[in-house]
Amino acid sequence: MNDRITLRRLDDMHCHFRIGSLLKEVLPFTAQYAGRGIAMPNTRPRAIITGNDIVWYRDEIMRALDEMPHRHRFEPLMTVEIRDSTIPQMIAEAHRVGAVAGKVYPLGVTTNSDEGLRDFDSEKISDTFRAMQDVGMLLLIHGELDRERTLVTKREEVFLPTLLKLAERFPNLKIVLEHVSTRVAVESVRQLGENVAATITAHHLCLTLNDVIGYGIQPHHGCMPMPKDFDDRDALIAAATSGDPKFFLGSDTAPHPREKKECAKGACGVYTAPVLPQVLAEVFEKAGCLDRLEDFTSRFGAEFYGLPLNDGTVSLIKSEWVVREQIGSVVPFRAGTKLQWQLA
Ligand code: NCD
Ligand code: ZN
Repeated sequence: MNDRITLRRLDDMHCHFRIGSLLKEVLPFTAQYAGRGIAMPNTRPRAIITGNDIVWYRDEIMRALDEMPHRHRFEPLMTVEIRDSTIPQMIAEAHRVGAVAGKVYPLGVTTNSDEGLRDFDSEKISDTFRAMQDVGMLLLIHGELDRERTLVTKREEVFLPTLLKLAERFPNLKIVLEHVSTRVAVESVRQLGENVAATITAHHLCLTLNDVIGYGIQPHHGCMPMPKDFDDRDALIAAATSGDPKFFLGSDTAPHPREKKECAKGACGVYTAPVLPQVLAEVFEKAGCLDRLEDFTSRFGAEFYGLPLNDGTVSLIKSEWVVREQIGSVVPFRAGTKLQWQLA
């Protein structure tokens, strides 16, 4: 039996690094094992919507990296938030300062989406998507819609026709359906052309809705999209471990201070950065597919983004440990529970 695995340094294609003191708390975890991470733009109070915002945010991240006691070779991949007000000129500017992708949050579906996109069909936003296609920026989508009389658990399914339309109208735009959570979304991504891929989180490989509300409300498992049914989770595990390059890691590590989670109207987001490779190793081992872990964490994402593979490696050893109840101001995923793998 394998008791050590070595992986090429990871690409985490979906990270919430936040800003200020939280950034300094959370960034060291990802930088420890990842060569790159997609920096999501839904920061507050300053959101990342212009070229200037991107330059500012990258500097913040680089400063936080510089302050870390152990220097790691880590590169933040920058993104810009696409709103109804985003015009092609803003895309050109974002691209000029190095953004690799634009992120769409449909209005009102998740943390800090209060200025999210209202209309996927307008002429104006089509021009923006076309501008992205022309310069080779990726379109990252939080694939949920908040419709009247639509349950939170159905929001991803309700979004899928919009994805199909986009993929058809912009065949050369690389589109990532972020954090897929349902079998039907997995199947849609499989059937669409080569320009469409999906990220999968570690927590959606572990949780069902039962783990969020089935045994007392567990705020630290509350996230968007909501974890779904057992059959959906089976489909996600199958997709992640299948060796299909359309599915790669995007952890959606989304830290919120404990008091913002343990309250009425608690914030959505699961903080997986401190346990990410360890949890993934457990999932892949259980599926009998440890040999496919590296493709999922360190190869397929880079290939879809058109990036060279990372240099360097990270090793995990099989040795039980207990995750801390709280790390800094945040409760991590699997807090207080045993994990079988640890970073060497
Ligand atoms: C994310 C966050 O906290 O910024 N929350 C979440 O539940 N996943 C936003 C997001 O990616 O939806
Ligand atoms: Zn996210």
